[in-house]
Amino acid sequence: MEPVIVWYLRMSVVYFVAGVATGFGMLLWPSESGYYLPVHVHLNLLGFMSMMIYGVGYHILPKFSGRHIYSPQIMKVQFWFSNAGLIGMAVSWPFHMGGGVPIAETTLVLFSALSLIAIILFAINILKTVKSV
Ligand code: HEM
Ligand code: HEM
Repeated sequence: MEPVIVWYLRMSVVYFVAGVATGFGMLLWPSESGYYLPVHVHLNLLGFMSMMIYGVGYHILPKFSGRHIYSPQIMKVQFWFSNAGLIGMAVSWPFHMGGGVPIAETTLVLFSALSLIAIILFAINILKTVKSV
């Protein structure tokens, strides 16, 4: 398995632990829960679920099509964009929800843009890879 694919899978389970730990914290401290709900949701769905799909997809989908991945370079750039994007979103979100830190809205938008670019890169790479055989 390509090293970057192993890292997608490793980061996925790291986000899983962080995501459910956030959810557990929300149960323990319900008064703070609102600040952390989007963090919990996106660590689990954009972190654990999406990162797992990126890793498994990159490993298996080219094989199903009898081809190599269209761009190994995109696969690596996307790894950094998706992780920087998600971590930046997760850190910015509670400050943004709290409302007292105006810069948090800017950082949330910038890191969200990184996440969006990562998703578009994944879409391009997969669309250019999968073909009927
Ligand atoms: C130990 C595991 C987990 C705990 C303790 C937990 C806890 C919570 C809590 C307390 C809420 C807020 C509920 C509310 O007040 O409305 C929540 C919402 C949510 N959780 Fe989790 N969660 C866990 C695992 C997961 C996982 C694995 C996922 C996804 C893969 C997930 C996805 C969501 C989503 C999407 C919401 C938002 C639902 C909505 O929009 O109302 N959770 N969770
Ligand atoms: C570029 C990537 C993404 C961005 C920028 C983004 C942004 C947002 C924003 C701004 C909200 C509203 C949060 C609030 O104010 O309460 C939201 C909610 C939500 N997003 Fe995302 N999202 C992204 C990706 C995803 C993905 C991939 C999933 C699922 C696979 C997802 C699932 C959800 C869910 C379930 C909610 C509702 C959470 C709640 O109950 O408050 N998002 N997202």
